[in-house]
Amino acid sequence: MEKQILIPRHEIQAKVKDLALRISLDYAGKEPILIGILNGVVFFFAELVMALSIPTKIDFIRASSYGANMASSGTVKLVKDVEIPVKNKDLIIVEDMVDTGLTLNYLVDTLKRREPASLRICALIDKTERREQEITVDYCGFKVQKGFLVGYGLDYAEHYRYLPDIWVLESADASVLRQEGGDDH
Ligand code: PRP
Repeated sequence: MEKQILIPRHEIQAKVKDLALRISLDYAGKEPILIGILNGVVFFFAELVMALSIPTKIDFIRASSYGANMASSGTVKLVKDVEIPVKNKDLIIVEDMVDTGLTLNYLVDTLKRREPASLRICALIDKTERREQEITVDYCGFKVQKGFLVGYGLDYAEHYRYLPDIWVLESADASVLRQEGGDDH
């Protein structure tokens, strides 16, 4: 399938550093639990956690909403739960991409019911065009309007996850897809 680079590896690396710095400052003196949403998050998650200068615990959760199609099925279910107890803990949910918002909303609701001390969201990519449920991303890497993104953990029917850059499939013009912003801290 035709594809072109949207976010090159060096920009991802710089953004991961920025996000890690912000989180390290905000959580100084604390030991948050970073919860990665499998599977797509694995590359971002590992690099983010290693770039932090605070102690953390890590755990993973998995929801399933997409089949092998490019469109969401619209239903979310819990496929793998966290294993560390989260009551009274500071949680940071780490996601590779927010699209419709259905996955994150479902997981936030699920975790909030367990009464954590706090819960924030870190997402590498906030893709806005298909948003159905409002989500506040506390730590956002890149805002992207639209496009089917692959690479750096993101897949199309399980293909392309291994690519170190983020690519956009099909012939869309990458220069008009990137929005100003993301969090440039
Ligand atoms: C993708 C992505 C997010 C979710 C975002 O995961 O990694 O978790 O979809 O979509 P939404 O905002 O429309 O819910 P997917 O379920 O495809 O699993 P994966 O991480 O294994 O690719």
